[in-house]
Amino acid sequence: MPVRALTPSMPVRLERLVNHQVREPRKPRQPNVPSSACTLNINKREEISQLEIASIKGFRDILPQETRVWHWIEARARRVLEAFGFQEIRTPIVEKTELFSRSIGQETDIVSKEMYTFADKKGRSLTLRPEATASVVRAYIQNRLYQAYPVQKLYSIGPMFRHERPQKGRFRQFHQINAELFGDPGPRSDADMVAMAALLFRSIGLEDVSLNLNSLGCSDCRPAFREALRDYLSDKKVRLCEDCQRRAESNPLRVFDCKVETCQEVVSDAPAIGRFLCRACQAHFEALQDMLNDLEIPFVLNPRLVRGLDYYNRTTFEIQTEHLGAQNAVAGGGRYDGLASLLGGPDHPAIGFALGLERVAALIGDDLPLEEKGPQLFIAALGGAAARSAVKWAAELRSSGLWAEFDYSGGGLKSQMKKADRLNARHVLMVGENELQSGRAGLRNMLTGEQVDVELVDLVNVLKEMLKREQDDKN
Ligand code: HAM
Repeated sequence: MPVRALTPSMPVRLERLVNHQVREPRKPRQPNVPSSACTLNINKREEISQLEIASIKGFRDILPQETRVWHWIEARARRVLEAFGFQEIRTPIVEKTELFSRSIGQETDIVSKEMYTFADKKGRSLTLRPEATASVVRAYIQNRLYQAYPVQKLYSIGPMFRHERPQKGRFRQFHQINAELFGDPGPRSDADMVAMAALLFRSIGLEDVSLNLNSLGCSDCRPAFREALRDYLSDKKVRLCEDCQRRAESNPLRVFDCKVETCQEVVSDAPAIGRFLCRACQAHFEALQDMLNDLEIPFVLNPRLVRGLDYYNRTTFEIQTEHLGAQNAVAGGGRYDGLASLLGGPDHPAIGFALGLERVAALIGDDLPLEEKGPQLFIAALGGAAARSAVKWAAELRSSGLWAEFDYSGGGLKSQMKKADRLNARHVLMVGENELQSGRAGLRNMLTGEQVDVELVDLVNVLKEMLKREQDDKN
């Protein structure tokens, strides 16, 4: 936005200041650091990447431009989650390693290869959480949340850590929005969870995704499937990777989620769970499908969807996209009825899912119609006394909830106007010595160029009224 010519209502001293030749804004001076100190130029990525302090591979900064998108997604997600009665829980990022190895399963890629595990000062094995479900179940048991109300609905938002090979859509620190429902065996709660995931995606405008659905059966019917799978894999071991040769015996379902191409080829013709489901699991799965049809939520039956964690039984689902290459899962979850009791808690059924924030943000990209944000007032102060008053006025405005800025280093009016422009300020108050003396100063609307004189003692009220009027006009 160009700096506009000031109107005649501008006080004489300021007009003179603006009209005289103003130099290009000065380049920020380098801080005066002793020669022995680190004179790192942080704009030079190449230089910083050679230093030991560069961020770790797979761990990235989420910059302000992106956090705006994240806030938008999170706000919409919270609205949907709360409409379904979910309440937020925040669990620690570090837990005892055993919590994850027991919950997720020793043979899974997550536990066998991907966990950030370390010994603390007392030699206890701790792990940065690779997912949220195990921690939420632990908190549910430890805090006896089930005593308050039989059905508990909990959500959380935060970082997870997996030592995977970083690539597009796959990071070592990534973030999930995670939802868990305890205390109902389904299938109505299954339908509610899937419906919530679908609404969440609809509310953030991502409709070009597909919902994959499967049932993994229960402890009654899954052993027969596992046996059939073991048989199928027994004469194909030479084509399997080393890990899967072992898994083919100990936990053949895990061969399904191996990332090695030849293992994927082998399982592509493997028997599907569908024909092994017991009557109760079949009825559960059909009831869920009927309800999704009633809700007009389209889904694809995917008999290979076993998901990479051992705790699932019956319903599993994944929301997939074709726009992120190999990392096609944007959300995934399922039922895990045995986990609470496995961890020493009550035998309470549960179902949940998690959405990957990086992947969802990548799908949204730059398409978001986010309103450009900027301060409601920039105080362009000229001279020591005005600059000092600006600090006080800004504090007053901020305590009234308004975003106010002033120039920390001073400078000419033109350069301050440029800064106000760059910050996208809605209004600029121009104050010099004369204005301080008269108690009145020019307040400029940076969008329309209109300018009015305001009483400085009444600044907060005038600005509030003006913003309210502008908002009303907009509505
Ligand atoms: P998950 O499928 O491992 O499930 O992860 C859920 C979502 O997190 C994925 O669909 C993906 O969007 C995202 N995600 C996973 N790994 C990465 C990564 N390395 N980089 C970026 N995004 C990633 C779970 O974590 C289960 N705890 C979900 C659940 C909740 N099941 C029941 N309740």
